[in-house]
Amino acid sequence: MPGRVAGKKAFITGAAQGLGAAMARALAAEGAKVSLADINIEGARAVAAEIDAAHGEGTAFAFPLDVTREDQWIFALEEADEAMGGISVLINSAGVTRGGDIESLSLEDWKLVMSVNVDSVFLGTKHALKYMRANQPGSIINISSIAGLIAAHNSPAYNASKAGVWLLSKGIALHCAKQGLDIRSNTIHPTFIDTPILDPLRQRFGKEAAESKLGRQIPLGHIGEPDDIANAALYLASDESKFMTGAELKLDGGISAM
Ligand SMILES: NC(=O)c1ccc[n+]([C@@H]2O[C@H](COP(=O)([O-])OP(=O)(O)OC[C@H]3O[C@@H](n4cnc5c(N)ncnc54)[C@H](O)[C@@H]3O)[C@@H](O)[C@H]2O)c1
Repeated sequence: MPGRVAGKKAFITGAAQGLGAAMARALAAEGAKVSLADINIEGARAVAAEIDAAHGEGTAFAFPLDVTREDQWIFALEEADEAMGGISVLINSAGVTRGGDIESLSLEDWKLVMSVNVDSVFLGTKHALKYMRANQPGSIINISSIAGLIAAHNSPAYNASKAGVWLLSKGIALHCAKQGLDIRSNTIHPTFIDTPILDPLRQRFGKEAAESKLGRQIPLGHIGEPDDIANAALYLASDESKFMTGAELKLDGGISAM
């Protein structure tokens, strides 16, 4: 039986670990070719090799990419288009966070978070659309956060960047629709998910204490798993979501219902 994303060709940033890697594995398991891009090229290569071992040589490719660099985007997309024979799905998952409230956060950290989290979506979409036009139907999936919809006292840069991704994604959806393109653009908003992004908290409080502290903030009582997000990405990448654009999927264990 063909997979849910058979024939799709996905370019995924931040794919060396965490959610990016989980989404690459999930898409490959359902028939897509995947290009894993990351500043950590060794990590991306390792995940690509594991996917190839599971699904056959030529399923996964790895490319070095700093998502804040326009020249690197242009080069990586060109290489991925050639390797996969097209690009029909773009997943912007690379992201960072930095602690500090509005008075203590440095301008340097503010700029880093805005650049990695928002410039990435701007640059990636700007340059991927050329390839996606030639491979319709297409889907752009931007990993925002529940922190893009709900503020905290100590995450000004992260909140602002993820809110930026949320509305930028809607603008991209409207642009594509106005152009008559069958290319959709949506955001995913996770709450805390079990990935290395939580390691600083685990180091500070210990693994169990950190995870139960986070879990207590979530109505379902625990943090999420990478599969929870990968399954949502699978739906958005597939033609099952063909009428969904300019929208958001909240995978937050009920936080935003409160
Ligand atoms: N895990 C969570 O709790 C959670 C919750 C909400 C939103 N998110 C968002 O999901 C996305 C993925 O998070 P994750 O949990 O997988 O994090 P992670 O730290 O495990 O992985 C992030 C990946 O991005 C890469 N990266 C960082 N800067 C980069 C750059 N400049 N260029 C290219 N790659 C770069 C890292 O090398 C890493 O492989 C992020 O945008 C994050 O903000 C995560």
